[in-house]
Amino acid sequence: MKAPPSLGSLMVAWLAVLGRIQAVTLEVKEGNSTCIKAELSASFSIPYSTPSGAKTAVVSLPASATVDAASSSCGSDSSSPWLVAAFGAGHALGLSFSTNGSVYSIANLTMQYNLSDASVFPDSNSSDVVTVVSASVGIWAPINTTYRCLSPTSVRVGGATVTFSDMRLEAYMPGNELSPAESVCVADQTTTTAPATTASTAAPTPPEPAPAGPPVRGSYSLRNANGTVCLLAQMGLQLNVSYVSQAQNKTVQELFNLNPNLTSSEGSCGASSATLVLTQEQSTMLSFTFTANSTSNKFHLSEIHLLANWSDMTAPLLVSNNSLDYLRSTVGRSYMCNAEQSLDVAPAFSLNTFRLQVQPFSVTTNQFATAEECQMDQDQMLIPIIVGAALAGLVLIVLIAYLIGRKRSHAGYQTI
Ligand SMILES: *[C@@H]1O[C@H](CO)[C@@H](O)[C@H](O)[C@H]1NC(C)=O
Ligand SMILES: *[C@@H]1O[C@H](CO)[C@@H](O)[C@H](O)[C@H]1NC(C)=O
Ligand SMILES: *[C@@H]1O[C@H](CO)[C@@H](O)[C@H](O)[C@H]1NC(C)=O
Ligand SMILES: *[C@@H]1O[C@H](CO)[C@@H](O)[C@H](O)[C@H]1NC(C)=O
Ligand SMILES: *[C@@H]1O[C@H](CO)[C@@H](O)[C@H](O)[C@H]1NC(C)=O
Ligand SMILES: *[C@@H]1O[C@H](CO)[C@@H](O)[C@H](O)[C@H]1NC(C)=O
Ligand SMILES: *[C@@H]1O[C@H](CO)[C@@H](O)[C@H](O)[C@H]1NC(C)=O
Ligand SMILES: *[C@@H]1O[C@H](CO)[C@@H](O)[C@H](O)[C@H]1NC(C)=O
Ligand SMILES: *[C@@H]1O[C@H](CO)[C@@H](O)[C@H](O)[C@H]1NC(C)=O
Ligand SMILES: *[C@@H]1O[C@H](CO)[C@@H](O)[C@H](O)[C@H]1NC(C)=O
Ligand SMILES: *[C@@H]1O[C@H](CO)[C@@H](O)[C@H](O)[C@H]1NC(C)=O
Ligand SMILES: *[C@@H]1O[C@H](CO)[C@@H](O)[C@H](O)[C@H]1NC(C)=O
Repeated sequence: MKAPPSLGSLMVAWLAVLGRIQAVTLEVKEGNSTCIKAELSASFSIPYSTPSGAKTAVVSLPASATVDAASSSCGSDSSSPWLVAAFGAGHALGLSFSTNGSVYSIANLTMQYNLSDASVFPDSNSSDVVTVVSASVGIWAPINTTYRCLSPTSVRVGGATVTFSDMRLEAYMPGNELSPAESVCVADQTTTTAPATTASTAAPTPPEPAPAGPPVRGSYSLRNANGTVCLLAQMGLQLNVSYVSQAQNKTVQELFNLNPNLTSSEGSCGASSATLVLTQEQSTMLSFTFTANSTSNKFHLSEIHLLANWSDMTAPLLVSNNSLDYLRSTVGRSYMCNAEQSLDVAPAFSLNTFRLQVQPFSVTTNQFATAEECQMDQDQMLIPIIVGAALAGLVLIVLIAYLIGRKRSHAGYQTI
């Protein structure tokens, strides 16, 4: 891999991501009493323009985020309670609450980001401070209970996406601590049915070493600002990573299967570039960037980034390659490869894909367009054809041999 001139926004932003991983506690107080308290991790994926095309920044709410006392408030008769967390160079996340007496909810979610912050938005061709608001957050709980959602939950805000995880929050609090009664989100109920009792204390677990066998196939998709699906992917993913093991005090080669149940997807779609970021439980982030060429009308997978912070690692692993040429297909079609494919990314990391189908551009009606299959699939389809042809040939030979034999024996009778 040659030293890339620009590692790309994602890479730089991911360095920022390394600073996250732990939850942030935010509190809004009036006098001595707390009215809003939130413990959460949040990551943001924000598309922006550069002279060389659309990019996506992935940034997280850092531990240094603080409540902006000037904007935050416990609310009054005429205004709603509002929690504003400020971080970095003029970035902020705002949560506005409302209640009807028995239920409280996040009425709107505001995100502010400063495009002139070159550490998060390198090469941005704008220096605006952008504010986006979403009024459909879908986070609510009965009053006097704590809303709990450990599973990643994504909220679309303008073109950007906020993904919360390890979240506990409460507004209109009866005391200064989170209420012990919890209102558990649907995602936690479905993904932690078996270990539900331990889920509340469990820290994010690193992916388990792959059990014998291929990974489970996951379905991932991205939506446009207007809500239409713009990228579709179905695949089983297996990471082949070498890293220095703490336990064994040496470099080990391990296979890890991505578990779709624990993986959230975010990213952005552009006319010439689309990025899908998969996050498994804060310990693994894997991103795919597809590039389209309008001249040749082809697309391909051009970049892969991996950030892994597993408990056995002596240091988090960050690898990327932005000069890849995989999964090549035609814009308006999808790429399909049922056979296992191994994509070399860096010496320490290769990615094995299983039963893969992707379409990063020109998705219509939420469905894959006609697929172009990989060579391996075509070869595998050739095998039955070859076997069939060989069998047909054999039958023909036997038939001819029989006919010749019959003719010979006829001739034999005639001589008598
Ligand atoms: C990696 O994860 C551990 C917890 O599992 C955390 O303490 C540590 O800060 C993380 N490292 C980085 C660089 O984020
Ligand atoms: C806040 O608490 C301090 C001591 O804990 C007390 O002296 C003060 O009166 C309280 N203020 C209010 C507004 O309740
Ligand atoms: C930024 O660049 C994009 C192309 O990448 C262009 O379409 C857009 O108009 C530019 N915006 C500004 C403010 O220069
Ligand atoms: C979001 O909520 C805040 C606080 O209640 C309010 O000031 C703001 O106008 C709301 N924004 C939208 C778009 O509803
Ligand atoms: C945006 O970022 C730039 C550069 O980091 C900084 O000078 C500016 O003050 C920031 N704007 C706000 C509103 O914080
Ligand atoms: C408050 O809203 C919830 C959910 O929308 C509803 O079930 C409940 O009946 C409402 N309560 C009152 C007092 O309006
Ligand atoms: C919430 O708790 C407070 C104090 O414990 C109580 O006064 C209030 O009635 C409770 N509200 C509801 C809706 O249960
Ligand atoms: C949604 O936006 C995309 C481009 O961002 C556009 O191509 C598509 O036609 C829009 N769909 C609808 C239903 O407005
Ligand atoms: C994992 O990577 C190593 C080193 O590149 C390679 O030798 C090994 O065959 C790979 N294993 C799988 C299952 O892909
Ligand atoms: C790890 O291995 C190195 C040499 O391979 C050795 O010097 C070091 O003491 C070992 N550390 C532990 C904790 O075993
Ligand atoms: C994923 O969840 C489904 C049901 O929600 C369950 O049947 C399946 O076993 C889970 N798969 C894994 C790999 O955990
Ligand atoms: C796009 O495809 C054309 C024709 O195949 C090729 O000449 C050109 O270099 C490609 N552009 C990029 C940016 O790869």
